[in-house]
Amino acid sequence: MDSLIIHGGQPLRGQVKISGAKNSALKLMCASLLTAEPLTLHNVPQLADITTMASLLKQHGMEISESGENSFKLRSNNITNFTAPYELVKQMRASIIVLGPLLARFGEAKISLPGGCAIGTRPVDLHLSSLKKMGAEIDIIDGYVVAKAQRLKGAEIYFEKVSVGATENTLMAATLAQGETVLHNAAQEPEISDLVECLIKMGAKIDGIGTNRLTIQGVEKLHGAEHEVVADRIETGSFIAAAAITGSEIELLGARAEHLGAVLHKFEEAGVHVEKTANGLRVKKPREIKAVDITTEPYPGFPTDMQAQFMALMTVASGASTFQETIFENRFMHVPELVRMGAKIKTSGNTAIVTGVPGLRGAEVMATDLRASFSLVIAALAAEGETRISRVYHIDRGYEKIARRLQGLGADITRIKE
Ligand code: EPZ
Repeated sequence: MDSLIIHGGQPLRGQVKISGAKNSALKLMCASLLTAEPLTLHNVPQLADITTMASLLKQHGMEISESGENSFKLRSNNITNFTAPYELVKQMRASIIVLGPLLARFGEAKISLPGGCAIGTRPVDLHLSSLKKMGAEIDIIDGYVVAKAQRLKGAEIYFEKVSVGATENTLMAATLAQGETVLHNAAQEPEISDLVECLIKMGAKIDGIGTNRLTIQGVEKLHGAEHEVVADRIETGSFIAAAAITGSEIELLGARAEHLGAVLHKFEEAGVHVEKTANGLRVKKPREIKAVDITTEPYPGFPTDMQAQFMALMTVASGASTFQETIFENRFMHVPELVRMGAKIKTSGNTAIVTGVPGLRGAEVMATDLRASFSLVIAALAAEGETRISRVYHIDRGYEKIARRLQGLGADITRIKE
C-alpha cells in the first residue's frame, strides 16, 4: 500500500485542471447498457473506481475502448451476463447502478447487495421499492438482488428520502419503461443533471432537469450519443480548501461556480474569496480564516462529500465551528486523524465541534475513506513538518494523479511504496 509524504507550509501557486466528476462518469458508463449503439464519453477521470466500473461492465459483455486519454467508447450490443458478482460489487457500491438499466433493457438482473461501507450502512431499499412500483419482481436470494420484469411500467414515485443512487437507477429504468414515470423528491445534484442531459442525447424523453421532480416518457429504444462528463464540484471544493489553508492563490481550470452554490457561500463566510475567471475559478489569498458552522444537506445544500475537507480548513480558523452530518451515520473518521495533527475537535453523534488552533503539526496518519483522506492532505499541506498518510488507495478512488497535480501547484508531496 502506498503512502503520501507531505512537508507542510509551502504556498500553492499556478493552475490545476479540474477532472470530470467521478460521481457522474460512473453512472454515465452504466447508461450505455440502455442501448446497443455506441456511447462515447469524454473528460472521464482516470480513477480506480472508473477501472472497477469498466471491469464490471465488461463482464456483462460491454465493449469498452479508450479513445484518447480521458475518452471512452462503450458499446452494449452483446450483453450476455446479467449478474454483478459480489467480488466486484464489494469494491464499489456504485455497481448497484447497473440494476435499473439491465432490468429496463433486458428484463432481468442479479446484483450482489452492496455491503455497507466505512461511512455508513447505505441500504438500497429506495432503489428496490421504486423498481417494484414499476412492476419489477425483486427477491433477495443469498445476498443477491434477483430482479425480473416483462416490461417495466411507468409509475408515480415519491422518494421518502433524497437518494442520488435511487434517483439514478429509477431514472434510467424509466427511460425504457412503458408510459410515464414521475419522480418526486428526486435528487438534484449536478451529476444527476449531467446524466439527464446524456440520456436526452440518447433519445430519452425527460422533463424537469435540475429540479426535484423528473417526468420521464418511456420510449422503445435509445440510441448512441457523445457526451462530456461535467467538472467535479467536489474536487473543486477540495482544491479551494487546500489553497485557503495554505494562504494561496490558484486557478481551477474548468471549475463551474454554478455547481458550488452553498460551498462557495460557506467559503466566502470563512473569508475565502473565490472569483470567476474566463477559464474557471480563482481562489484569492485569504487574510484570515473565520470559523463557520456547517450542516450537510442534499443538493443544493452543503454536500456531505465536502464535510471532511471543510473541517480540515476549520481546524485552523479563528473561533469554533459546528458540523452537523445529516446524510451518513459515520462520516467523522477523519476526526481522530486530524486530532493527531493537533486539531481540537470533539464529536457527539452526528455533531462535531471544531475549535480553531494557531497551527497543525505533521504526524503519521491513516486514510479511512475517500473524502476523509483528502482532508488529511489539506491539513498536511498547512501543518508544520512532515505528515505521512498511509492507505492512499482511498484517495486513488476519487482524485486523479493527486500527488503529481499538487506538486504542479508547488506542494512538497511525494508518493512512496510501503
Ligand atoms: C452518492 O452515494 C455518492 N456516490 C456519494 O459520494 C455521496 O456522498 C452521496 O451520493 C450523497 O450525495 C456516488 O455517486 C457513487 P444516497 P449514494 O443514495 O447514491 C440513504 C463520494 O465520496 N439511502 O444519496 O449511495 C443513505 O444511507 C461518495 O464520492 C437509503 O436509506 O447516496 C444515505 O443516508 C461517498 N436508502 C442517504 O440516503 C436507499 O435506498 C443518501 O444516500 C439509498 C440511500
